[in-house]
Amino acid sequence: MAKRERASDEVRTEWARRVEAEYRSASITHHLTLWLIQIGASPDLIDDGLRIVKDELMHASMSHRTLVAAGGQMTAPIARETLGLKRDEREPLELSAARCCVEVFCLGETVAVPLFKVLREGCTVPAARRTLDRVLRDEVRHRDFGWALLDHLLESPAAAEVRALVARELPKMFARVHQSYAPTGGEKHAAISEEDRSWGLMPIARYREILERTVKRDYAPRFRARGFDAEAAWQAGISTTQIIS
Ligand SMILES: [Fe+2]
Ligand SMILES: [Fe+2]
Repeated sequence: MAKRERASDEVRTEWARRVEAEYRSASITHHLTLWLIQIGASPDLIDDGLRIVKDELMHASMSHRTLVAAGGQMTAPIARETLGLKRDEREPLELSAARCCVEVFCLGETVAVPLFKVLREGCTVPAARRTLDRVLRDEVRHRDFGWALLDHLLESPAAAEVRALVARELPKMFARVHQSYAPTGGEKHAAISEEDRSWGLMPIARYREILERTVKRDYAPRFRARGFDAEAAWQAGISTTQIIS
C-alpha cells in the first residue's frame, strides 16, 4: 500500500503507455498472422503468431494491473486506426509481411529482450515485477519468431523481392527505432529516482545505450548471417534522423 501512495506521475504515465503498446502489439501480431494464413506460411509460424497474440493480451492485462496498483487508470480509448497494419494493395502480401516482420519483430522484439532485462533488474514492486518477469520470458520467443519468419520469407518464391525490400528499407526502419528509443535530447535524462526504478522504469539515456549495444551484439551478426550489412544500414539511418532533428 505504501508503494501505491508513492508511485509518481511518471510511473503512471509509463505504465499507461505500456498498456497501450502491449494492446497494439496484440493487434499487429493478429493482423500479421492473418497475412501468414493468407500467404500459406508454415503451420508452425502461424501457431507461434497466434500464441504471441495471447501473450501480448496478457502483457496488456498485467500492465493494466500494475497501472491500477500505481493508482492510475486509462484515461482515453486507444485510437482504433492504430490497432492493426496498413498495406499497399499493389504490393505482394509477402512484402507487406516482410516489412512488419523486420521492423516489429527482428528490430523491435530483439531490442526488447535487453531492454526488459535491465528494466526488470531494478524493479522490486511486486505487481510491476510480476509483469516484467512475464514480458521478459515471452520476448525471447517473440524475437525468435521474427527471425524464423524472415528466414521463411527469404526461402519463399518471393525471396528476391523480400531481400531487395529489406536492403532498401532497413536504414529507414533503423531511423524510426532510433527516434523512438534514443530521441534527441534523451541523453540529458540520465537519472531517475530509486522509487521510479522500483516500479520498472529507467532513464531515457539507458534506452539509447542498450539500443546501440544491440546494433553490435544482435542486429549486426543476425543480419550478416542473412547477407545484410546492418551496421551500414544503421549508420545511414541515424544520419538521416540527425539531419531531421
Ligand atoms: Fe509484449
Ligand atoms: Fe512481444
